[in-house]
Amino acid sequence: MTEMTLSIIKPDAVKRSITGKINAIFEDNKLKVVAQRMILMSKHDAEKFYKVHSERAFFSDLCEYMTSGPVIVQVLQGQNAVIKNRELMGATNPENAEEGTIRKKYGISVEENSVHGSDSLENAKIEISFFFSNKDILSY
Ligand code: CMP
Repeated sequence: MTEMTLSIIKPDAVKRSITGKINAIFEDNKLKVVAQRMILMSKHDAEKFYKVHSERAFFSDLCEYMTSGPVIVQVLQGQNAVIKNRELMGATNPENAEEGTIRKKYGISVEENSVHGSDSLENAKIEISFFFSNKDILSY
């Protein structure tokens, strides 16, 4: 099934100028970038976006980190895009990620793990609408 998922290229990857390398992985694996924008997330946005983690010990560090520099928010489209993107990203902690995955290749730590991707189709819809409206998404 053709799906869309939200991806965020995180501050550690933007700072190291590897966003092109990460986009190439998506494109080489038949995930099209159908919307994309560089933003500096506000504290308010980060807290709202990551609300499900608000009780976790790492929540305030996570929000601090996600607002520490520009990120690229993007919508990826393709067959089974949600699961496909999660496979390409690898495990949350780069130490546990499989060889060849984005987080294994580029992640520095569980916090500086280079990318975020929606974890379900339902959350993908919510997360996409957090950053984009329908007119921002240009299928091709
Ligand atoms: P992400 O997919 O963006 O969703 C929540 C983020 O919390 C996760 O990736 C990690 O980068 C971050 N995080 C920071 N510390 C931890 C931790 N101890 N366990 C899980 N996630 C963490």
